[in-house]
Amino acid sequence: MSEEKETVKERSSGFISVRDIPGVGSSIADKLEAAGYLSAWSIVVARAEELAEKTGLPVLTVQKIIESARKMLGITFKTAREVKQERLNIGKITTGSKSLDELLGGGVETKTITEFFGEYGSGKTQICHQLSVNVQLTPEKGGLNGRAVYIDTEGTFRWERIEAMARAIGLDPDKVMDNIYYMRAYNSDHQIAIVDELFTFVPKNDVRLVVLDSVTSHFRAEYPGREHLAERQQKLNSHLHQLMRLAEAYNVAVVVTNQVMARPDVFYGDPTTAVGGHVLAHTPGVRVQLRKSKGNKRIARVVDAPHLPEGEVVFVITEEGIRDSEEE
Ligand code: GTP
Ligand code: MG
Repeated sequence: MSEEKETVKERSSGFISVRDIPGVGSSIADKLEAAGYLSAWSIVVARAEELAEKTGLPVLTVQKIIESARKMLGITFKTAREVKQERLNIGKITTGSKSLDELLGGGVETKTITEFFGEYGSGKTQICHQLSVNVQLTPEKGGLNGRAVYIDTEGTFRWERIEAMARAIGLDPDKVMDNIYYMRAYNSDHQIAIVDELFTFVPKNDVRLVVLDSVTSHFRAEYPGREHLAERQQKLNSHLHQLMRLAEAYNVAVVVTNQVMARPDVFYGDPTTAVGGHVLAHTPGVRVQLRKSKGNKRIARVVDAPHLPEGEVVFVITEEGIRDSEEE
């Protein structure tokens, strides 16, 4: 039990243990740790002969461990053509609104985290439902022929909504629901453990979209107030890095939501950016701010993304799901 707690604590503070290196089992990890090598980074910078001598492991084994740690931490060169190929492999999921898709450069992308942030009722959960349906479409129709994982921290998932959205685009509602794996996360440790599990679940089940609605609520509840702000942000950053690794490793889209309270006491500038702010500040990814407008209209804006078009778009939340606003 205490050992388990320790692992979570270390991981949350951004420490990557030798135990996280692919191919390193517990007996090898024990030897590495006994010799004073605790982090994956300490392995990357170690000389093979020295490591072998100190741990008593064969040089060949040690070389493989170093190689694996380098791969995991991304210390390997790619050619420009490989970079191009990786870029071409990126998939896009339609949101149901052409204008919103355009704002996102063609839809929600795989290999990255997309954060939807905004006040209550701004449409974050509705977009998550819609994407879980749309990822199942064929690529010609804006999908990825894939399944979705839906991690729900607030209990706001509605299968009825999935049914309605599926029907509206001519898909079999039962089949669509069969292709959405749902799990409720009860606290932040549980949430982190679920994402750990996804590293084996995702590749086995044709998953192309992972939704976390919301990524922040448990962390906010467990680390309340200003005095816990630094610790909370550190844990969240570590969790977001875990999600980023998942997105990149399996070419899936990771979509997270984050409720940001509007502050009526802020009279100038944008009142919704005042409290909380977006959580992706230190993680690569796309941040989309949502705002309520008249009736079922919502406004979306991408922040801090020089590669995406500037400006705002309007979309609507209808009985059928996310759609373009007719007035636009
Ligand atoms: P929080 O989770 O509270 O922060 O809000 P959110 O941003 O997730 O809001 P959500 O996506 O739940 O959007 C709520 C809005 O979507 C409501 O205000 C409704 O306007 C609309 N909506 C939700 N369900 C339905 C539905 O079944 N039919 C229609 N037409 N609109 C719906
Ligand atoms: Mg919601």
